[in-house]
Amino acid sequence: MIIKSAEFITSAVKQSQYPPEVLPEIAFAGRSNVGKSSLINTLINRKRLVKTSSTPGRTQLINFFDINNNLTFVDLPGYGYAKVPAAVRKKWGPMIETYLSSRKTLKGVVIILDIRRQPREEEQNLIHWLAHYSIASILVLTKTDKLSKTKVARQQDAIVRALAMEKENALLFSAKTRRGKDAVWNAILSLTAPK
Ligand code: GTP
Ligand code: MG
Repeated sequence: MIIKSAEFITSAVKQSQYPPEVLPEIAFAGRSNVGKSSLINTLINRKRLVKTSSTPGRTQLINFFDINNNLTFVDLPGYGYAKVPAAVRKKWGPMIETYLSSRKTLKGVVIILDIRRQPREEEQNLIHWLAHYSIASILVLTKTDKLSKTKVARQQDAIVRALAMEKENALLFSAKTRRGKDAVWNAILSLTAPK
C-alpha cells in the first residue's frame, strides 16, 4: 500500500461531530495501551500522526484520519483501563456502541489483542456484538516482538481457541518490527474493496 497522504480529520465524542459518511471506513478497537495508535502509525508509515503514549487510556476521543483521500481510519478509545475516572469510563461503552451501530460507511473493525494476554470478557463481548450486527472484523495479535517464536505460536493457538476462531484469521503483528504490516493491509483492503 503506497501512502500518498495521511491526515488527521477530527475528534468526536458524539455523532453530530463525526465527519460526513463518504469514504469507506475501518475502525481500530482494543484494550487501552494495547497498541491501537501504534498499529495505525505503522500501517501508514508515520511515526507520530496518531498520538501514542506509555500512559494507558490516553485516547479518549474517537479520532478520524484520512488516508490517501480514499479511506478513513478511526482510532477508537481503548477500554478496560481501571485508572481512568469512572465518569469517563461510563461514557466509553455508549460512545463506541453509538459509533459502531450508526456508521453507514464502516466496512470493518480491526480488533487488537496483546499476544501475551488471553482475551477477556470485553473482547468476547465486542466480537459477539460485531457478529450480531454483521460488522466484519479482523483480529490482530500485536507486540509479538515481546515473545519468543515458540511462545508466539503457543499464544496464537490459545487465543484462537478461546475465541473459537481459525488460526489464519488471527494476524501476527508488531509495531516495533513491522511484522505483519502487509497482511493487515491486505485484510483491510479486502474489506474496503468495492463489491
Ligand atoms: P490508548 O490510546 O491509551 O488506548 O493506547 P493504544 O492502544 O493506542 O496504544 P499505543 O499505540 O499508544 O501503545 C501503547 C504502548 O505500547 C506504547 O509505549 C507503544 O510504544 C507500545 N507498543 C505498541 N505496539 C507495540 C509493539 O508491537 N511492540 C512493542 N514492543 N511495543 C508496542
Ligand atoms: Mg491510542
